[in-house]
Amino acid sequence: MLKHPLPRLDKDDELRNLLLPYCRLKYGEIWKDKKAGHKIICGDCTDKRILSKLFQKSRGNLSIQDPPYNFIAFQKSDTENFSLWCKKWIDFSFEYLSSDSAFYVWLGAEYKKYFQPLGAFLDVISNTKFQPKNFITLRNQRGYGTQNNWMSVRQELFYFTKGNPIFNVEAEYTEIPKALRGYYKEVNGKLTENFERSKSEFIRAGNVWIDIQQVFYRMEENVNGCFAQKPLKAIERIILASSKKDDIVFDFFSHSGTTLIASEYLGRVCFTIDIEPVFCEITIRRLENFRRTGKTGWQNSNPFYEEITKDKKLKTYLKSKYKLEY
Ligand SMILES: C[S@@+](CC[C@H](N)C(=O)[O-])C[C@H]1O[C@@H](n2cnc3c(N)ncnc32)[C@H](O)[C@@H]1O
Repeated sequence: MLKHPLPRLDKDDELRNLLLPYCRLKYGEIWKDKKAGHKIICGDCTDKRILSKLFQKSRGNLSIQDPPYNFIAFQKSDTENFSLWCKKWIDFSFEYLSSDSAFYVWLGAEYKKYFQPLGAFLDVISNTKFQPKNFITLRNQRGYGTQNNWMSVRQELFYFTKGNPIFNVEAEYTEIPKALRGYYKEVNGKLTENFERSKSEFIRAGNVWIDIQQVFYRMEENVNGCFAQKPLKAIERIILASSKKDDIVFDFFSHSGTTLIASEYLGRVCFTIDIEPVFCEITIRRLENFRRTGKTGWQNSNPFYEEITKDKKLKTYLKSKYKLEY
């Protein structure tokens, strides 16, 4: 098995700079996919020029956003800045969504900071025209924490709507077995339990998703170098529930390109942005690699493997700083 990890790119400016010559997009540049019509632009999603260039006259039907939130130092002024920043991309999401559409946002909460930036985000969105629709929790299999607190195993996903979008309930059906017995109820004078009352062996996901594995290096979809990859299965569930074939799905924080890959194999068109050229390049490569090999990621290899093996500077850097052999 190939084992060629790439360290977290967000934490290493030097490594990102060494990879820059292999990135196709500079700030403000766009990559248009001839086959399916996807678009990837390098830029700041709060910059109106970037959005106009990306959308032109098109409008999206579904927006899935996974903003970074760890950068906030949680001083009051930083929370205020975060709110102002959120307002910009939330307003742009509203503007670039068609009249009946869905808006999903992943967000975390730091309990030590009174669960910010969740409160700040909810304050901002409550002053927009988006309608709140649901609050989903994705339950991670592995968690982090100490012995003196509940282990953190959750990721939060907010669902809002603009107008009256579709909701395909079929997408909610899962392979989650109906494992728990109980929930007795009298039907026609006979005491029945939940196993007898429904034909399906499976339960619906509801708004707590317990059947999705978070991404790690043993999974095909893993993209080394990325640090915040969302599981394809989660994005797939959102897309299937809240869009139809050929719809435009947009994501302002592409990173590893999860929304683009799910859109590709579900027959949707994806418009996506990342401020970092290296994550735009990873997004493009992930699509190309998927079309070439059918693989959704690189498992424990990485998107720049070929270049690293030929580039002396990169090889030396990875060896001296991270003891990685290429
Ligand atoms: C949490 S990650 C998104 C992860 C993504 N959902 C995935 O599955 O790979 C956030 C991404 O947003 C990008 N980003 C941060 N600020 C941005 C901005 N103002 N405009 C566009 N992208 C930004 C970062 O470079 C990073 O790649």
